[in-house]
Amino acid sequence: MKILKKINDVRSEIKMAKAEGKIIGFVPTMGYLHQGHISLIRKAKEECEYVVVSIFVNPTQFGPKEDFNRYPRNLERDIKILKDEKVNLLFAPETEEMYKEGFKSWVYVEELSEILEGKFRPGHFKGVCTVVLKLFNIVQPDKAYFGWKDAQQLIIIKKMVEDLNIPVEIIGCPTIRESDGLACSSRNVYLGEKEREKALCLYKALKKIEELIKKEKIYDCKVLIKEGEKIIKEEGVELQYLEIVKIDNLKKLEKIEKDAIILGAIKIGDVRLIDNLIISEF
Ligand code: PAJ
Repeated sequence: MKILKKINDVRSEIKMAKAEGKIIGFVPTMGYLHQGHISLIRKAKEECEYVVVSIFVNPTQFGPKEDFNRYPRNLERDIKILKDEKVNLLFAPETEEMYKEGFKSWVYVEELSEILEGKFRPGHFKGVCTVVLKLFNIVQPDKAYFGWKDAQQLIIIKKMVEDLNIPVEIIGCPTIRESDGLACSSRNVYLGEKEREKALCLYKALKKIEELIKKEKIYDCKVLIKEGEKIIKEEGVELQYLEIVKIDNLKKLEKIEKDAIILGAIKIGDVRLIDNLIISEF
């Protein structure tokens, strides 16, 4: 596996792979890799002849009071995982390589970036879109892999790609969970034993809502959300939002319909976790 830190070096490698007619698959990450990331890499390996992974904890997507400084990092461990997965190229730039002094250009997807996560993390998706477009321009992949775990991010990136005619196919991959249902996340390492138990309440709330839809045939979103909220409040956990929206445009639903998605965010102490569940049929 090639490990590169400089944009120009990545460009040269990609040029060679493309000259050999290889399909380039790309998995952007912030590192501290877990089974969720690995599932994206495996899907990319299945579908592409040359797989690039990036590890870059992108400062512009963290708010001033967020966890940029303490975000977990372990490049050595990550490199071992990527080698085992037979990834072709790791791009792991320093901040200065990605954001030169005097950086002034931003990408912003209106409306979709302002709701749900965007309400609690102003500017977050502007940072995400900007870094993802930069990474696309550097790696020039044919296909890029993103997890449904971050559903709003995936939907916004799809919109950016469509609106700006970026020549890449975006592939959404299912959320990978621990054995008890907690969605894998680099941030799970922040959780102590008690908090880890509490963290499960968001998934429990999502599953409860799913059950009410599928078994009890309750389709009124207000009623469903109330039931979900109950589970989270009983656990004494701070609920930031719990909403049922349409999967393609994130518009709030009054009544369950096909391709709805239930999205939630909780905060346990200063650890913030998100999760969602897609209701494709009911
Ligand atoms: P990061 O949180 O490292 O996630 C990288 C990719 O892994 C994202 O597409 C995310 O949705 C996916 N992922 C994370 N947990 C997952 C899980 N449990 N199951 C399936 N996929 C999962 O998301 C980011 O980094 C950044 O915002 C990034 C896109 C790299 C831009 O900086």
